[in-house]
Amino acid sequence: MKIAVLGPGALGCLLAASLKEQGEEVVLLDYRPQRRELLQRRGITVHTLAGEVRVAPVPVALAAAGGAFDLVVVAVKAYQTEAAAGLLPRLLAPGALVLTVQNGLGNLEALAAAVGPERLLAGVVFAGATRPEEGRVVHAGAGPTVIGAPPGSQVTPARLAQVAQVFRRAGWECRIRDDIEVVLWEKLLVNVGINPLTALLRVPNGVLPAIPPAWELAVAAATEAAALARASGLALTVDPDTRLREVCAATAANLSSMLQDVLAGRPTEIAALNGQVVARAKTHGLPTPVNYCLTRLLEALEAAAPSRPSAEKDLVV
Ligand code: PAF
Repeated sequence: MKIAVLGPGALGCLLAASLKEQGEEVVLLDYRPQRRELLQRRGITVHTLAGEVRVAPVPVALAAAGGAFDLVVVAVKAYQTEAAAGLLPRLLAPGALVLTVQNGLGNLEALAAAVGPERLLAGVVFAGATRPEEGRVVHAGAGPTVIGAPPGSQVTPARLAQVAQVFRRAGWECRIRDDIEVVLWEKLLVNVGINPLTALLRVPNGVLPAIPPAWELAVAAATEAAALARASGLALTVDPDTRLREVCAATAANLSSMLQDVLAGRPTEIAALNGQVVARAKTHGLPTPVNYCLTRLLEALEAAAPSRPSAEKDLVV
């Protein structure tokens, strides 16, 4: 199976490196020529959960160059989904599958608009990974990966099992679920709670439960999202407080993807996470004051970034 991983972020690099190490025919796709060249030259360095450091010589190509892949794993940030979707038609072999492993809501809809819903798979990754520099990834938290065929997909159980096998061979604990939409929402609860608060406070995931005011807000944001999921007809079984606690413990040393974005001066995924909760809740008449505040705070944080003093001494007048 020819596999492309689209997006050399923490998750994309980790996935591509582990597939390559297992001898899979995998290519990492980037859209920035200079970075592509750097990654191709250096390879992908992985700091494993066991503390080993390994370099995987993953081939890196420009996404715009096209290709004929049997499976494209979309691992770009949610705010890049539209651009990634535009590239997909020229990357797919006949009958190819597209698997999104992105955070947030709205990705499936954007990908379906570009390549049709029938070939889509959705994946939810509970592992934590950080990218201290381009092409270097630290596997910082264990967690399963769950994949499934979302509504509208016509991917057969046999092909789904084939994809799960590819992940398992590469060392990923991969589960298949019929109700992948429920899993996507359960991950959303985690992300709307953990991500904005760790990004605002600049703390690793494991510290969050020990800060009572922040924890209260994290659980409240996840509880609002859980109410929206139920109003949308999804039978979520998880308790927000318990679930968030479990993920914070399993990814204790990890810097959330949103904190990594803030520290690197990149845009965040707040619109696809808490912002989507606020927008979708309106159609159900549900109140989402905590998600609204967190969305506006992250938007403000991003907008303020260029004006922030680089050190405390800059504040002395
Ligand atoms: O976005 C993230 O950082 C991850 O989804 C998670 C699970 C919260 C771990 O940091």
